[in-house]
Amino acid sequence: MMLSHGKGKSVVQFHVNGETREAIIRSGDTLLQTLRGQLGLSGAKPACGNGDCGACTILMDGKPVHSCLVLSIEALNKSLLTIEELKDSPIQKAFVEKWAIQCGYCTPGFVLNCHALLQAHPDASDETIEEWLESNLCRCTGYAEIKEAVKSVLDAEKKNPRLT
Ligand code: FES
Ligand code: FES
Repeated sequence: MMLSHGKGKSVVQFHVNGETREAIIRSGDTLLQTLRGQLGLSGAKPACGNGDCGACTILMDGKPVHSCLVLSIEALNKSLLTIEELKDSPIQKAFVEKWAIQCGYCTPGFVLNCHALLQAHPDASDETIEEWLESNLCRCTGYAEIKEAVKSVLDAEKKNPRLT
């Protein structure tokens, strides 16, 4: 649903983290701006602003997207998942247990990307994990620990399906 709000702004509804949320947007607003500025979901991080780093990653209809490159209006009628909804998820806990965090700025984007990887590839090989993670950059270079976190959830899922 979209209602004009005057001055080039519209009132719209987003489906985010299982809820319907209302926001006022302009046609040029990015999804990252709306999530952080309108919906109070500040887990997606602004960094490069041009699609290179993945700090702003969220899931849209289950697929990772760089929210700095998505217009807010493109996200209407899509199902959005942000890091706030993955609190205490297996992959979030694995990041903590495997020390896959240093400064933490890239971490929300990585956790979401890894969550999508686990859903799409429950038998992911090392190569698949490496390829999948190429869309995200960690300036603190904690890649080995991030891969260990992914593998620990894959192993746990094989022993006990439906963990993810
Ligand atoms: S801030 Fe979106 S990809 Fe870097
Ligand atoms: S933990 Fe610092 S940028 Fe990744």
